[in-house]
Amino acid sequence: MALKVLFAASEAYPLIKTGGLADVAYGLPLALHAERAEVRLLLPAYYDMMGKLKEVQQLGSLQIQGAGRVHTVHILEGSHAAFPFPIWVVECGALFGRSGNPYMHPDGYDWPDNAERFTVFARAAALLADDALQLNWRPDVVHAHDWQTGLIPALLEAVNPRPRSVFTIHNLAYGGYFSRAVYDQLQLAWHWWSSEGVEFYGGFSMLKAGIVYADVVTTVSPTYAQEICTPEFGYGLDGLLRSRSYKLHGILNGIDTEIWNPKHDEYLVQNYGLRDIKKGKLANKQALLERFGQNPTEEQLARPLLGMVSRLVEQKGVDMVMECIHPLLAETNAAFVLIGSGHHHYEQALYDLAARYPGRVMVYIGYNEALAHLLEAGCDIFLMPSRFEPCGLNQMYSLNYGTLPVVYNTGGLADTVVNATEANIAADTANGFVFYLPYSHALLGTLWWVLRIFADDQKLWRALQRNALKADFAWKRSAKRYLELYRN
Ligand code: ADP
Ligand code: GLC
Repeated sequence: MALKVLFAASEAYPLIKTGGLADVAYGLPLALHAERAEVRLLLPAYYDMMGKLKEVQQLGSLQIQGAGRVHTVHILEGSHAAFPFPIWVVECGALFGRSGNPYMHPDGYDWPDNAERFTVFARAAALLADDALQLNWRPDVVHAHDWQTGLIPALLEAVNPRPRSVFTIHNLAYGGYFSRAVYDQLQLAWHWWSSEGVEFYGGFSMLKAGIVYADVVTTVSPTYAQEICTPEFGYGLDGLLRSRSYKLHGILNGIDTEIWNPKHDEYLVQNYGLRDIKKGKLANKQALLERFGQNPTEEQLARPLLGMVSRLVEQKGVDMVMECIHPLLAETNAAFVLIGSGHHHYEQALYDLAARYPGRVMVYIGYNEALAHLLEAGCDIFLMPSRFEPCGLNQMYSLNYGTLPVVYNTGGLADTVVNATEANIAADTANGFVFYLPYSHALLGTLWWVLRIFADDQKLWRALQRNALKADFAWKRSAKRYLELYRN
């Protein structure tokens, strides 16, 4: 019999996306389905997302405890061309019926009722796992993701028979921390309140609930699984994670090799593969520069173009990139294209750089899927100097596009990018560039070296691109590992 999986997440491409979690909540369920699992994807019914669902019908209603009030919640089922299985959504106008970012007010602060929103979502998931709507569908496994769904494994204790639970940490930096007062308002179970349970420095952490109560905890790369067990990366949860190492697994994310494929990416002006990579990338570079109002000469097209697509937060090291830009502009012919959104001070600093160096620093502030694809194809070098990176998807996209990544040696970056050392070049495994100290001077030193290779050794550059395109990051392998965990 097919294994039944309830996959609960707070975002999923192409319905609603703020980052890589959405890509995973799309790619992994699809790959599980291809391996014959019976999947139901469960999401909150965000206002902006509902228009994208087709054939929406109501499965039933539930009364769910919120913060000092009880909500009538409707469970809807819909379909979408991207998904070969039904999508279930938890509809509650008071909590999810608002447009914009799923976690934040347009002014940049968290929605003040986030604890209630995701507690209600988690309670709905647990009730569905108990077939509370009598749909005759009980999951064998509930797979929850990040703090927004962290309470689900704890809540499953009330489900009989209890399904197995898997909790995936996509980013330990977001702990879902709330106060004791909120805990009481939400009427969460008193017996979870201890340092061995959800309590965390006087308040509680929804992420911690997931780690403590899930049968299996995974994170999104083998290196990050080790890193989070150390104080440097553990955000105070490293001791707990070390004590749970028996159930902690690092499984590298896959990527969607159809959507992120230069051979048939619809956002490119010219598709390409290894054989015509030079010509293909050049055509896309021209289109990318024109998109920013440039009219590049042949000489300008030959210059190295460095790109970055990122949430603009401290994690991603955009400050390090900005520090490197001045000396690189002064002493090389490199140009930069940066796409991102996030903290206002980074956005402003990038705008300032673009205004100061027209034609050499090009900036787009906002979220733009099409431009992200064109950038991957049109740049020569992709910058991803994250201080920590649980997995990271853009370095894998870059490798697929032959856009050599420059990364800090951490998390999933360390697991996917093979540094162009002499030994790795000799072994024909090198596919990018790695630096080993999380400081701008280390990044800068590496970039001098990268730009020298780009200028002087096109033969080596080609060899690195060849290796980059050879890598296989399709979801199939990782999905099989998840299925093994589900079964055991
Ligand atoms: P994280 O989830 O930490 O942001 P990932 O590398 O896992 O990092 O995933 C980021 C995803 O979001 C990628 O698919 C990337 O292309 C996309 N992305 C981030 N910022 C933007 C943006 N401004 N415009 C378009 N896509 C973006
Ligand atoms: C998080 C991490 C990122 C990872 C993504 C998907 O947002 O920051 O490294 O790739 O989740 O797992």
